[in-house]
Amino acid sequence: MPDSALGVLVLAAGKGTRMKTVLPKVLLPILDKPMLGYLLKAVLEIVPSGVAVLVGHQGEHVRDYLRAFPSVKVLWQKEQLGTGHAVQVSREWWSRFGQLLVLNGDLPFLSPDALKSFVEEHRSAGVDCSLLSFVTDRPDGYGRVLRGPEGVSIVEHKDASPQQRLIQEVNAGCYVFTTEALLRVIGRLENHNAQGEYYLPDVVGLMNAEGLKVHASIAGEDELLGVNTQAELAEMTRRMRDALVQSWMAKGVRVLDPSAVWVGPDAKLAPDVCLMPGVQVWGESVVGKDSTVGPYCILRNAVLGQGVNLTAYVIVEDSQLRDGAKAGPFAYIREGSLLDEGAFAGKFVELKKTHVGRGSKVPHLSYMGDAVLGEDANIGAGSVTCNYDGKNKFPTKIGDRCFVGSDTMMVAPVTLGDDSATAAGSTITADVPEGALAVGRARQRNIEGWVRAKKRQR
Ligand code: UD1
Ligand code: CA
Repeated sequence: MPDSALGVLVLAAGKGTRMKTVLPKVLLPILDKPMLGYLLKAVLEIVPSGVAVLVGHQGEHVRDYLRAFPSVKVLWQKEQLGTGHAVQVSREWWSRFGQLLVLNGDLPFLSPDALKSFVEEHRSAGVDCSLLSFVTDRPDGYGRVLRGPEGVSIVEHKDASPQQRLIQEVNAGCYVFTTEALLRVIGRLENHNAQGEYYLPDVVGLMNAEGLKVHASIAGEDELLGVNTQAELAEMTRRMRDALVQSWMAKGVRVLDPSAVWVGPDAKLAPDVCLMPGVQVWGESVVGKDSTVGPYCILRNAVLGQGVNLTAYVIVEDSQLRDGAKAGPFAYIREGSLLDEGAFAGKFVELKKTHVGRGSKVPHLSYMGDAVLGEDANIGAGSVTCNYDGKNKFPTKIGDRCFVGSDTMMVAPVTLGDDSATAAGSTITADVPEGALAVGRARQRNIEGWVRAKKRQR
C-alpha cells in the first residue's frame, strides 16, 4: 500500500445510551433515512473504496442495513469498551493503509467538501494526527479541546473539571491519523476515567507525549453537531428538512409554507412543482414538472409525471401517475398501481396493484384491486372488485370504454369486454362479452297501495 492510501473507519458499534431506544443510534432515521446513511454517502463520494463500518450493539441490524453499500466492509466490536477500544480491535484491517480517517457514526451533516479539505489539510500539513473541532455555546456532553504549551489534548465532559467545562471548543469525533503514528500509541490507551472506557481522544495526548505532531482545526458547528438525544434528533431532522426544502426551492419548486412540508433526501422534484402545506414526499419519489401536490398528500416511492394534480389528502405508495393524471381528494393509491395519462381516481377510492388506463375514471367510493382497466372506462360510484376469497387474490379485467354502473360488484376472476356495460347494483360473476350490458340483480317489483294498507291496519 502506498503511504498515501486512505482508509476510512466509521464507528457505529455503540449503544447510543442517551437515545433510550432499542434500535442502535446510527440506524435512527433523520427524515426517512438512517443517520448512518448520510455520513456514508458523503464518505463514499470522496473515498469510493477502503471504507469500513465497525458494528457491535445490535450489530446484525446495522450489518443488514449496510447491504445497501456493497463496497463497505463490516467489522465487529463484540464488546463496546469505548471509541479507543473500537480502533484497537479493528487494527488488523486499518494497518494496511497509509492514512486512516476515523469518524463517529453520528455525523449526518458532514459534507463531502468538508471531509475532503480536512484530509487534504492533514496531508499538506505533514502532521501525524488531525482532528476537527468546533466552537459551540452548548458544549455539554462533548470532549473539550485543551490547547496548552504541550500542544492539544482532549478531556471528556464527564472527566472535565468545572473550569475545563467552561471551554467551548469541542472535539467533533472526526480524525485523520498517519497509520504508523497511530500504531505506536493505540495499544497504550487506559480506561482509568469516569466512564471506565478506552477513549480514542486520549490518543491525541499520547501522540503529543511521543513528540508526534497533532493539529486541531476548527470548523463550522453546523456540519459537526453530533446526535445524542431524541431532542437533538428532532432538531437535526428539522434542519435537514429546512436544508432540503430550501435547495428544492432554489431549483424552482414552489412551496407555500416551507415549515409545513417534508421532503426526504432521496426524493426528486422538477421545477414548477407546487407543494401545498402538509405534504410529505418520501423514499425515491419523483414529481414531474408542473405537478401540484395538494395539502396533506403523502408520497412514498411515487413517480408522478408532468402536470399531475393531487387535489388533497392523497396517499401514493410504490405507484406511478403518468402525465396529466388526477387524484383526490381522499384517494389511497397502493403498491403497484398505475394511473395512465389523464386517468383519474377520486373521492374515497382505493387502488391496489391496479392499472387505470389512459383517460379512465374511478371518480368515487370504489375499491379496485388486482385490476386492469382499459382506456376511457368509467367506474360508477361504489363499485368494487371482489378480488379476494379469503385465501387467494384474483384479477379483474375491464375493457376499453366500459361503463360500469354504480355499485357493481365484480367477483374476480372476471373480464368485462371492450364497450360493455353493467347495470347499477349488479353482481358480476361471469365474463361480459364485448358491447353487452350485464344485468346481475333481482328484478324490481312494485306492490301497489302497500303503504296505505299497512297504515290502515294500525
Ligand atoms: C465522542 C468523543 C468526544 C466527542 C464526541 C463528538 C470519545 C471518548 N469521546 O463522545 O470527545 O466530543 O464524540 O460527538 O470518543 N462507538 C463504538 N464503540 C464503542 C463506543 C462508541 O463504535 O465502544 C461509536 C458510537 O457508535 C458512535 C461513536 O463511536 O458512533 C461515538 O460514540 P458516542 O458514545 O456518541 O461518543 P460521545 O460520548 O458522544
Ligand atoms: Ca456523540
